[in-house]
Amino acid sequence: MHHEASGTVPSVTDSPTRIARDLFAPLAPGYERWAGILSMGQDGRWRSRMIAQLAIEPGEVALDVAAGTGSITRLLQDRRADVVSLDQSHQMLIPAVGRGATGVVATAERLPFVDGVFDVVTFGYLLRYVEDVAGAMAELTRVVRPGGRVGMVEFGRPSGVWLPLWRLYTRLVLPTAGLVAGEGWPEVGRFLGPNIEDFGGRFPPGRLARIWEDAGLSRVGFTRLSLGGGLVMWAQKGAVSSPETR
Ligand SMILES: C[S@@+](CC[C@H](N)C(=O)[O-])C[C@H]1O[C@@H](n2cnc3c(N)ncnc32)[C@H](O)[C@@H]1O
Repeated sequence: MHHEASGTVPSVTDSPTRIARDLFAPLAPGYERWAGILSMGQDGRWRSRMIAQLAIEPGEVALDVAAGTGSITRLLQDRRADVVSLDQSHQMLIPAVGRGATGVVATAERLPFVDGVFDVVTFGYLLRYVEDVAGAMAELTRVVRPGGRVGMVEFGRPSGVWLPLWRLYTRLVLPTAGLVAGEGWPEVGRFLGPNIEDFGGRFPPGRLARIWEDAGLSRVGFTRLSLGGGLVMWAQKGAVSSPETR
């Protein structure tokens, strides 16, 4: 099953690649403002936490995968890294390129780079849109130099008493906010909650950490932020060690 006509809400059984292609094309104008609203103003904190964890040095060469309009790219540039912003959607990349990033239209599953050329690879909100999470992690790791770092930001699902409130927010508030946000956003508002929950159920942080290790990463660490609504994960390319939680 897939969706082609605009206005159709993707389901968790749709192909992740097709979802990404259809969902993001109309979103670039206003994406950053609405992404903030849809994450209850929390997404900036999550990105900043990832960047702090990666300890970027001036002049390092970074690849921001699924860069979108460049929210993570900008934080890397603020640390004076040379950044390549990669996304499957050229529409999403336009604002990032406009602010000085080198833009590459490609997919995370087939990166057009030789092995080990980047000091740092980042990705925000990517893995829910790939068919083969382990394969994508192997490909992302391939282009990192030995000793280089990888950082991820993703939505999470809160647990305990917060879960019913989060469900209310994602099933009622998000779809309603999506209705007023403009073209493409009603679909995002209805899609996001079930998609985050489905992905989090299949890939809890501990399982993701093991997939990262199998891909050749070590010192995998993660933290849940905003009552579990955000997940930040980081690692280094090199010899395997056990996951650490902070
Ligand atoms: C929610 S946006 C996130 C943008 C940015 N990372 C941020 O933190 O705001 C997700 C982006 O992932 C891109 N994307 C989804 N699947 C992809 C894939 N397989 N390869 C490359 N980009 C992908 C989409 O086009 C979209 O721009």
